[in-house]
Amino acid sequence: MNVRELEGKVALVTGGSRGIGFAVCHALAEAGARVAVVDLDGDGAAQAAAALPGEGHRGYACDVAGAEGVQATVAAVESDLGPVDVLVNNAGITRDNILVRMTDKEFDEVIATNLKGSFNFTRAVSRGMMKRRGGAILNVASVVGLTGNAGQANYAASKAGLVGLTKSVAKELASRGVRCNAVAPGFVRTAMTAKLTEAQVEALQGAIPMGALAEPEDIADAVRFLVGPAARYITGQVLAVDGGMVM
Ligand code: NAI
Repeated sequence: MNVRELEGKVALVTGGSRGIGFAVCHALAEAGARVAVVDLDGDGAAQAAAALPGEGHRGYACDVAGAEGVQATVAAVESDLGPVDVLVNNAGITRDNILVRMTDKEFDEVIATNLKGSFNFTRAVSRGMMKRRGGAILNVASVVGLTGNAGQANYAASKAGLVGLTKSVAKELASRGVRCNAVAPGFVRTAMTAKLTEAQVEALQGAIPMGALAEPEDIADAVRFLVGPAARYITGQVLAVDGGMVM
């Protein structure tokens, strides 16, 4: 692979200030992209942008769930850095509960961030990508969206929804040179999984054929491949990055 395969490109990563999103920002910056780090946590986004290798990165405060704020953020990114060539919809939250106790708020918040947030950003960048006849969109789904998970009806539904969004966008935009794919990570060592007890982690590891949780960089490397020129003939795919959990 060309070591600077995204040289001259602009990449926008949501939820980029920490965890998988930050690892993705780092990988795309190493590939030569100028990165717009977008996060609910604006200070975190600015600090993350400053910590990336290379020049020209910037942080933006934005709630992905709000369509108007998303439009304004994309406009700001395009005026500061240039047209968005790569979009990574990574921002995501959990509000776990068993079904009978799950509140409307818990369900709606997860759908609004994980699914509607990805729709908001995809819609906001796709017109420009279509006009320029090129672009790559990547949604961070989850293996839970493929298998379901007790206690995560809201989260699993949002991630399964992302799979449908990915394939529909891929079909709509393919003839305009715009690709759309997803990764479905297994369990990754981030703040999201830090709540797991050691006993839970051990049990999980037993269920993972490769015997270990993923590091954020494992997901970021797959994202870098899918948004780059080496994946030019790949669209509408969901790549599980999960140590063999789901086959
Ligand atoms: P994290 O909790 O460490 O980071 C998520 C980031 O998204 C944070 O910086 C947060 O401020 C930001 N964010 C949350 N809501 C937002 C909103 N409304 N608008 C803008 N930014 C917002 O999470 P992690 O683990 O890095 O997860 C990243 C993505 O990967 C999520 O979509 C998650 O569902 C997915 N994923 C994570 C797995 C894991 O085991 N950690 C497994 C499978 C998927």
